[in-house]
Amino acid sequence: MSPLFIALDGIDGTGKSTQVDRLAAYLREHNVRTATTKEPGGTQAGTAIRSILLDTNMILEPDTEILLFCADRVEHQQKVLSILEMGTSVISDRFLSSTWAYQIFGRKERSDLLEAILPHTITRYPDLTIILDMEPTVAVERAKARLMQEGKTLTEGRFEAEEIEFFTEVRKGFHWYAGEERFGRSVIVDATGDIDEVSAKIQEIVNELNWSH
Ligand code: TYD
Repeated sequence: MSPLFIALDGIDGTGKSTQVDRLAAYLREHNVRTATTKEPGGTQAGTAIRSILLDTNMILEPDTEILLFCADRVEHQQKVLSILEMGTSVISDRFLSSTWAYQIFGRKERSDLLEAILPHTITRYPDLTIILDMEPTVAVERAKARLMQEGKTLTEGRFEAEEIEFFTEVRKGFHWYAGEERFGRSVIVDATGDIDEVSAKIQEIVNELNWSH
């Protein structure tokens, strides 16, 4: 079996990181050597880039934001390729789909810059991109509940009421991305069920890929 490259993506609050871990555990149980990684921040340089991107005090030009997410991705691609070359499958928490969804659809940044640098950014698209999908109102409620559990106040979080409108646009971006064949195969998964239900759906989809177990 050739190693798999799978990306999991979706708006905040869809349980994406949990499902990355669940899928990795599932593949490992079936003797598929699997590594997990993430964007932004999956490499040493990426960690530094991530700290700039997520620093709310840092005012960035929209083009700079796109370039930094792509710079992170260039570093990350090299890491992913070298893991795949060793025969290990890779699951990435977020991928290019996030840049289209958040920067272009959510923040209405210029798509021509992203289009122009795409060939320099990505040499290998995932075998499958799984988009976890749910109503932004539900996702935001879940994200808020998680913040409360972590003992944080709501104002410390990124999820204010007006964010629902933003996530509605981001969600549209993920749906658009899933329809673009040039980015490889993408599947939208309803993420409103409980963790086990969503894991089962993801496993079913991944089982359709060409790997023996
Ligand atoms: P993530 O690490 O998934 O969030 P968390 O801190 O909850 O684990 O992603 C960090 C943020 O970066 C998230 O809000 C989505 C955003 N993002 C973009 O805006 N564009 C991108 O290209 C990527 C990869 C992430």
